[in-house]
Amino acid sequence: KANHAMVRGAFILLEGCDRTGKSTQAERLVDALNRRGQRALLWKFPDRTTRIGQMIDGYLAKGQDLNDQAVHLLFSANRWEAIGQIQAHLREGTHLVVDRYAYSGVAFSAAKGLDLHWCKQPDVGLLTPDLTFFLDMSIEESMNRGGFGQERYEKVALQTRVREMFHALREPDWKVIDATQTKDQIHAELLGIAQATIGCVGNTELKHTLWT
Ligand code: TMP
Ligand code: MG
Repeated sequence: KANHAMVRGAFILLEGCDRTGKSTQAERLVDALNRRGQRALLWKFPDRTTRIGQMIDGYLAKGQDLNDQAVHLLFSANRWEAIGQIQAHLREGTHLVVDRYAYSGVAFSAAKGLDLHWCKQPDVGLLTPDLTFFLDMSIEESMNRGGFGQERYEKVALQTRVREMFHALREPDWKVIDATQTKDQIHAELLGIAQATIGCVGNTELKHTLWT
């Protein structure tokens, strides 16, 4: 009997500033795909559950100080340490909906003043998403919607620079989503585009071409 090529899963990324609804939408997208009988998993960066992730959490949430370059490298290492598992899921046909990735890594560190070119280097060659949604809204608007929490980067001035960095990093194939729409509108838009991508990735190879 002929071997049927394994149809791999799609790597779907959600990026954006804090408080743009990424986590809510990522969860809803995973649920909707699962309800349609497609295996999909939610993945989140930073993954605060690993040893590296605990160091990141200490820095973001617990006031532990770290050198800017060192914390940048920890965020990148936190992606590299997950990449084997991510690839395994994709190869066995599970879609991954990923909440933040290397674009956040570069946008936040560069917004703090680190050199943009330097910031990209540790993630060069990382697995490339099949689809990237950029949830975009003005920082004033996110403030009006309840504002930021207590974590280190949740400050208006920094978030404003982060948003500029995201726009500088934006790839031609990104889907820029107006994050001021209702949750239902955004969900419908994301699901439609995700389904189209899922229909295309099928037998294509995983690409390790980030910033190459
Ligand atoms: P979270 O709110 O999605 O858990 O992310 C925590 C903060 O970490 C958020 O302000 C964005 C920032 N961040 C980086 O600075 N570099 C990274 O590589 C990632 C993934 C997040
Ligand atoms: Mg946050």
